[in-house]
Amino acid sequence: MNNRQFKLARRPVGMVKREDFEFVTAAPVPEPGDGEVLVKVLYLSLDPAMRGWMNEGKSYIPPVGIGEVMRAGGVGVVVASKDSAFAPGDHVVGMTGVQEYATVKGKTLTKVNPKLVPLPVYLGTLGMPGMTAYFGLFDVGAFKPGDTVVVSGAAGAVGQVVGQIAKIKGAGRVVGIAGGADKCKYVTETLGFDACIDYKHGDVKAGLKQHCPKGVDLYFDNVGGEILDLVLAQLAMHARIVICGAVSQYNNTEPVRGPSNYMMLLVTRSTMKGMVVFDFASRYKDAAIEMGGWMAQGKLKSREDIVAGLETFPDTLLKLFKGENTGKLVLKVAEG
Ligand SMILES: NC(=O)c1ccc[n+]([C@@H]2O[C@H](COP(=O)([O-])OP(=O)(O)OC[C@H]3O[C@@H](n4cnc5c(N)ncnc54)[C@H](OP(=O)(O)O)[C@@H]3O)[C@@H](O)[C@H]2O)c1
Repeated sequence: MNNRQFKLARRPVGMVKREDFEFVTAAPVPEPGDGEVLVKVLYLSLDPAMRGWMNEGKSYIPPVGIGEVMRAGGVGVVVASKDSAFAPGDHVVGMTGVQEYATVKGKTLTKVNPKLVPLPVYLGTLGMPGMTAYFGLFDVGAFKPGDTVVVSGAAGAVGQVVGQIAKIKGAGRVVGIAGGADKCKYVTETLGFDACIDYKHGDVKAGLKQHCPKGVDLYFDNVGGEILDLVLAQLAMHARIVICGAVSQYNNTEPVRGPSNYMMLLVTRSTMKGMVVFDFASRYKDAAIEMGGWMAQGKLKSREDIVAGLETFPDTLLKLFKGENTGKLVLKVAEG
């Protein structure tokens, strides 16, 4: 068997480029060692965080080394196992990397059932982005029924879940911010948000005033930058801001733009708190059961944006930063 894989060739400057990776087309497929499982990768999760993992410097996880297979979450099928908990044919989720075959420690893998939901959903709404939405909103954001919730990146993997589960739990109003009329239509008409502000063609400040007349109680921030500043100016008293990400800043060549309106936190006695989803790993199962139940009842919708072909990886990753994905961006590597 032949393994194709993308390795990090150099640290990107600004927007990611194809030359930042080396595409290896004839790597050997390693035998699993004791406690390891050989996984045939079927789908890969493409995440904005991958851009940060390519940088040197302090973060919540070490950077990918030059010459290493690019880090990525994936879902696949076990082809050989030296961990008694897994057998060939099992479907699993774990950190497989951007490659066709991955040898992974069994204890880091989770079994999933493709009969319950399609496999890509385990990389989206019932995977890491869904967990981020759930714990970000309920734990970090201390959501309360009646809250006016605003979420940026509203049509994306995390954002689409945040707004829907806020509605399920009794939000007063849920307002999305997204780029473009089609995304806003998806957010309001399909997902049931109360309103959506098109930041590419509209006035975010005016939109927040119009759709959040009593101010914003909870802002789930996926994008940072100017939009964060505009929401800071519309906070209600005792508001909470969840710093989930700042995708507008990830490809900067200049230093990250900090919020200039941060004194509104003082004025409104509000808090702004960062989160990393991995801190909630011990509770993923409970959240997945609850969200799986909502999906089964038709209350929680999940959209995946699936692109086929491992060889397209660098260009497909760029879709995240160009705003070309709607829902969870997934790379299809092989037929299930
Ligand atoms: N803290 C954690 O543990 C954790 C875990 C998972 C994800 N995250 C973060 O959550 C955020 C969303 O991740 P995701 O996986 O759900 O990605 P996503 O929203 O599915 O995809 C990224 C989206 O970001 C938007 N975007 C790109 N450039 C932008 C810009 N300059 N200004 C405003 N919006 C821009 C685009 O949507 P538009 O078309 O609307 O612009 C794009 O579709 C990211 O910041 C990510 O790093 C954090």
